[in-house]
Amino acid sequence: MEGVLAGRVAVVTGASAGIGAAVAGALAAAGMRVMLGARRATQLETVCGEIRARGGDADFVVTDMRDEAQIERLIASAVEQYGRIDAVVNNAAMGAVRTVADGRVEEWRAILETNVLGTLVACRAALRYMLPRGHGDILNVISPTAHEAWPYMAAYAASKAGIEALSRCLRAEVTGRGVRVMVLEVHNVGGTEAALHLDQELTPAAIQRWAELGLLNVNAPPLERSDVARAVVFQLSQADTASIHHLTIRPRAD
Ligand SMILES: NC(=O)c1ccc[n+]([C@@H]2O[C@H](COP(=O)([O-])OP(=O)(O)OC[C@H]3O[C@@H](n4cnc5c(N)ncnc54)[C@H](OP(=O)(O)O)[C@@H]3O)[C@@H](O)[C@H]2O)c1
Repeated sequence: MEGVLAGRVAVVTGASAGIGAAVAGALAAAGMRVMLGARRATQLETVCGEIRARGGDADFVVTDMRDEAQIERLIASAVEQYGRIDAVVNNAAMGAVRTVADGRVEEWRAILETNVLGTLVACRAALRYMLPRGHGDILNVISPTAHEAWPYMAAYAASKAGIEALSRCLRAEVTGRGVRVMVLEVHNVGGTEAALHLDQELTPAAIQRWAELGLLNVNAPPLERSDVARAVVFQLSQADTASIHHLTIRPRAD
């Protein structure tokens, strides 16, 4: 557990499953103390237990990214427990496969509130500690839908484009004040829960359309969660003089 990240403190949102759980594990393996957030306590306990069993330092706060006060509490808890906060990885997100013509406002609201508002609130909460210290990393997870035309994904795409845009604006606001703002653009990852939450009737048609449009190579082995976690460690490990503003990770054959 040596290296530049050792002893630093990270908050990872959406850390109860999928990519977020892998990111939390990788950051802990790199020596960071990690505070995990998500809605499901049992899964968070399991992820924390696995990290501790490997000698890492992890704790969690049950957090719904649609609840401003809960996000504030997550960030404040990291500082209370570990005395500082060095990085926030805004990974929590939800999506849906549905055309705009068949769109459901409650689904759109959930996507935009979780992904965009949740990220904004987490950034603001972290900045309260990072700006006075003149130090900190904010890393926001986006997807190719932020700038590619993926049918069936309009609301999710709008949310990811929103996160990319807010990250650019925030970077311009805090530039020269010690806070780095980065995005990680993630393509298709296997073995996460994300696909399970999608409409199972519509998803095959959506995948076929994405393949026809050249957006997705269905024959390419997807990324592993650990591939994405290594990319996060890489971005956060850069020297203070550097910032990988935007990193894209894709399956090798796609
Ligand atoms: N999987 C892919 O192929 C892929 C591709 C591109 C980008 N990404 C991005 O990678 C990130 C992680 O995706 P994933 O595939 O790991 O998804 P996942 O397996 O569905 O996990 C999503 C995580 O977010 C949490 N979450 C969802 N809604 C939340 C809410 N309202 N409040 C708090 N936490 C919430 C979930 O925990 P709880 O349910 O316990 O709250 C879970 O820990 C997302 O930003 C996603 O957009 C994924």
